[in-house]
Amino acid sequence: MKKVALVTGSSQGIGRAIAINLAENGYITYVTYLKNKPKGERVINEITKKGGKAILVKLDVKSEENVKRVFEKIKTEYGQLNVLVSNAGIDIPKTIEIASFKDWQDVVNTKINGNFLCTKYGLPLMKNQDNANLIIIVSSLGEKPDPDYPAYCIGTAGTIAFTKAMALYLGKYNIRTNAIGPGTTKTQMWVDIGENSDEMWKTFEKNNPLGRVSTPEDIANSILMIINDKSRFLNGNIIYIDGGSHLK
Ligand SMILES: NC(=O)c1ccc[n+]([C@@H]2O[C@H](COP(=O)([O-])OP(=O)(O)OC[C@H]3O[C@@H](n4cnc5c(N)ncnc54)[C@H](OP(=O)(O)O)[C@@H]3O)[C@@H](O)[C@H]2O)c1
Repeated sequence: MKKVALVTGSSQGIGRAIAINLAENGYITYVTYLKNKPKGERVINEITKKGGKAILVKLDVKSEENVKRVFEKIKTEYGQLNVLVSNAGIDIPKTIEIASFKDWQDVVNTKINGNFLCTKYGLPLMKNQDNANLIIIVSSLGEKPDPDYPAYCIGTAGTIAFTKAMALYLGKYNIRTNAIGPGTTKTQMWVDIGENSDEMWKTFEKNNPLGRVSTPEDIANSILMIINDKSRFLNGNIIYIDGGSHLK
């Protein structure tokens, strides 16, 4: 029986690379988009062209109705889920003085409520599968907050705590939970927040112990390392794929 994966927020960026990598490695992969359907379709085409199998669904991780519907679809179509990558996230980089309550809620809800809802409704499909994995995409800002980005930092801190709680709880169902913290990765997220100058990227590269920034493919490869059968005792870790920059 083939294994099934879902990657939230996989129409672009880090999620896109993870979905493509999982499909290349034999997973039937659910790709999700929120606003960018054409980008989601391009991911499906890319996977299909390489001989993989992927299914596109619209998903807003903040909506309980929508999350329920997506997992019901997976239940009907395959009856199982082996890998859930909780990747969807947004940033609205505003200080406490400038951010509205809605800005705060949008960022925190996407991170924290999104993880809660996807795990809650994905769980029945993941229980007692052979080597099932929940992987949460976090950020080092959850451990070392930046004063200019409170919502993003608190949302991520919540997902780090959530990862640890799930690692302790879900083991009884043979589900491993780990988090991946990407380093600064050149994606649309940076364009959307208006921080994308060549100078900024050069500074990130210069400050990184390995002299470059992360690529979406670096992150995707780390997921394969976690879900590998040989990593069956790896549980409850926050693994930074950032060349070591979280230590600075
Ligand atoms: N890039 C970095 O430097 C970096 C560093 C550390 C951690 N991260 C984390 O890595 C993850 C991916 O970031 P990225 O840079 O790849 O971002 P991105 O390019 O902006 O992609 C974000 C993805 O999330 C989806 N999304 C947004 N809100 C959603 C919602 N409410 N429900 C479902 N999907 C939603 C988007 O869908 P649509 O485009 O279809 O709307 C898109 O597919 C995020 O959790 C981010 O916090 C990123």
